[in-house]
Amino acid sequence: MAENIHPIFDQILSRAEKERWLEQSAKVLWFTGLSGSGKSTLANAVERAIFNQGRLTKLLDGDNIRSGINANLGFSEADRIENIRRIAEVAKLFVEGGIITLCSFVSPTIEIRELARQIIGPEDFLEIYVNAPLEVCEQRDVKGLYQKARAGEIKNFTGIDAPFEAPTAPFIEIRTDLDELVICKNKIIKAVLPHIS
Ligand code: ADX
Repeated sequence: MAENIHPIFDQILSRAEKERWLEQSAKVLWFTGLSGSGKSTLANAVERAIFNQGRLTKLLDGDNIRSGINANLGFSEADRIENIRRIAEVAKLFVEGGIITLCSFVSPTIEIRELARQIIGPEDFLEIYVNAPLEVCEQRDVKGLYQKARAGEIKNFTGIDAPFEAPTAPFIEIRTDLDELVICKNKIIKAVLPHIS
C-alpha cells in the first residue's frame, strides 16, 4: 500500500528542537471513561491549567472529532477502532510538533486503548482513567443519551449494550463521583507535571 511513499523524516525539523523551543516535553494525556464520567470537563480544566502555566496544548475531544474528520464513523466496534486509530495518528502528529495533547474519548476496550498506545508510542502515552460508576453517569445523563439507550433508541451504547473495559494499570485513576472537579484536576496535574516539564 505504502510502497511508493517515501517519508523524509530526517529532513524535518525535529521534535526535540520544538520541545526545546517550547520548553516542555510533549506527551499525550489520554482520558478514557464512560459517557458522562466527566472526561471532557476534566480534560478541559487540565488543559486550561497547564496552558496557563505557559505550555502549548491541544485538546482532541470525542464530540468535536466525530463532527469533523470522523464524521463518517458510527459506534460499531470497527468504527470505534477506526475512530481511535485516526485520533491516535493525529495525536502523534501533535506530539511530534512538541505539543502536549489531551485526548478525551470513551475508547471503551483494552484493545482499542492498546492500539492508541502503540500508535502514539508507550513512552508518550499517559492513560487517565476517569472513573465514575455507571449508575452515577446514568443519573447525571448530561446529554440524555442513557435514557435513549435504555429506551432502545440508541444501539451499541457504551455501558448499556456495548462493553466498557476498565484499564487494568492506568497512569492514574480519578473518581469523579468521590472527588470535586478541582481535586480531580489537581491530582492529574500533580501526576503529569514531571512528565511534561
Ligand atoms: S469511542 O467509543 O469511539 O471512543 P467517542 O469518545 O468518540 O467514542 O464518542 C463518544 C461520545 O459519543 C459520547 O460521549 C456520546 O456523547 C456520543 N455517543 C453517541 N452514541 C454513542 C454510543 N452508542 N456509545 C457511546 N457514545 C455514544
